[in-house]
Amino acid sequence: MHETSSVGILTSGGDAPGMNSAVRAAFRSLKMREPDREILFFREGFRGLARRLDSSSDRNVDRRAVRDIIHRGGTFLGTGRVPELVLPDADAPDRDDRLAAREAFLKVAVANLYQMNLSHLVVVGGDGSFRGARLIADTFRETFPKRPFSVVGIPATIDNDIFGSQYSIGFDTALNNVVDAIRKIRDTVESHKRAIILEVMGNTSGWLALQSAIAGGAAIVAIPEVEATHDHAAIVSRLAAGVRRDYRYFIIVVAEGVQRMLPDWSQRLAEKIEHDTATRDVLGAPMEVRINSIGHLARGGSPSAFDNTLAGLLGSAAADVIQLGHLPGESPIEGDVVVGCRGPYPVVHPLSEVVAKSPRLVTEESPLFQLSQKLMLQAAQPF
Ligand code: F6P
Repeated sequence: MHETSSVGILTSGGDAPGMNSAVRAAFRSLKMREPDREILFFREGFRGLARRLDSSSDRNVDRRAVRDIIHRGGTFLGTGRVPELVLPDADAPDRDDRLAAREAFLKVAVANLYQMNLSHLVVVGGDGSFRGARLIADTFRETFPKRPFSVVGIPATIDNDIFGSQYSIGFDTALNNVVDAIRKIRDTVESHKRAIILEVMGNTSGWLALQSAIAGGAAIVAIPEVEATHDHAAIVSRLAAGVRRDYRYFIIVVAEGVQRMLPDWSQRLAEKIEHDTATRDVLGAPMEVRINSIGHLARGGSPSAFDNTLAGLLGSAAADVIQLGHLPGESPIEGDVVVGCRGPYPVVHPLSEVVAKSPRLVTEESPLFQLSQKLMLQAAQPF
């Protein structure tokens, strides 16, 4: 069975720079050991599993398929989110329809996997994708109990919120994109002596906002995980203290998760800053505020050297797990897994654990959050 079974690879969820390198590394490492084993690529994420296979998958791909992709952002395989894989809430009005759609999707997906004789599916994506992968793998094993099948996940998301991996592919590039944007915005904000509120992606986690605020030298950061950072009054008094210490412009970075929890957070903060009398008394006029959102620009562009290297490491580790059943020098691990990193070393965790413990969020005790509080503007600063 093993000699003839195939390996499928797909990218899923939000694209992340470096996904291409992960596919390339998994492909090349697999082929290095088993040149004759069939490798398939699925197009547009899990969607490609549940369509007519001749149009949504590339069978028997050869080395040429992964040439000239390492420098490209996005994912050459295409990606997407599949609502059918998300369990509807118990009180959702369309619950029955959605459950039926989910069942129909899974039925076609697992039948296709069976027909293609797949023993492993490599899923390059974030926690939503890993949840979907788990569901597909469980359904496959229930439907075809005699066929071995398992998933190997590779964390790739600019949110950097996957349990068991210090870094996810794409985070470093996005971080550099955001820091680059902060530097550009600084030029105009400084020239006009304004405050800027810069909204940064990250889903429910604040890692991208936090680290870009630190590296970009922002005055203030607000992240969903730490409630104290949402307090408009506290931010306004920190700005007033800054103005009294001769600061004339401010960069405020806010994670999108804050905006989701507290709609119009940025707009309401802008109004509070503009109406603040303490700031106005020092400046002689209200401080002007602008709101900008970096949005999907954070996700684009060529992957950084770090992301490409990480993608190479994790893609190759996925091949080791598939072919050896473990990472070199480590004990065997069975079932569905995710290969992550601890520093420059690959590590493996059960997929069920990764799904249960993701998203990995910032805490108030996180060293990077603590660092941000030392480096950024405070109301009571002794210098
Ligand atoms: O998960 C990556 C991410 O970029 C999040 O930071 C963001 O919340 C979401 O995807 C945006 O999704 P979409 O590209 O579907 O709008």
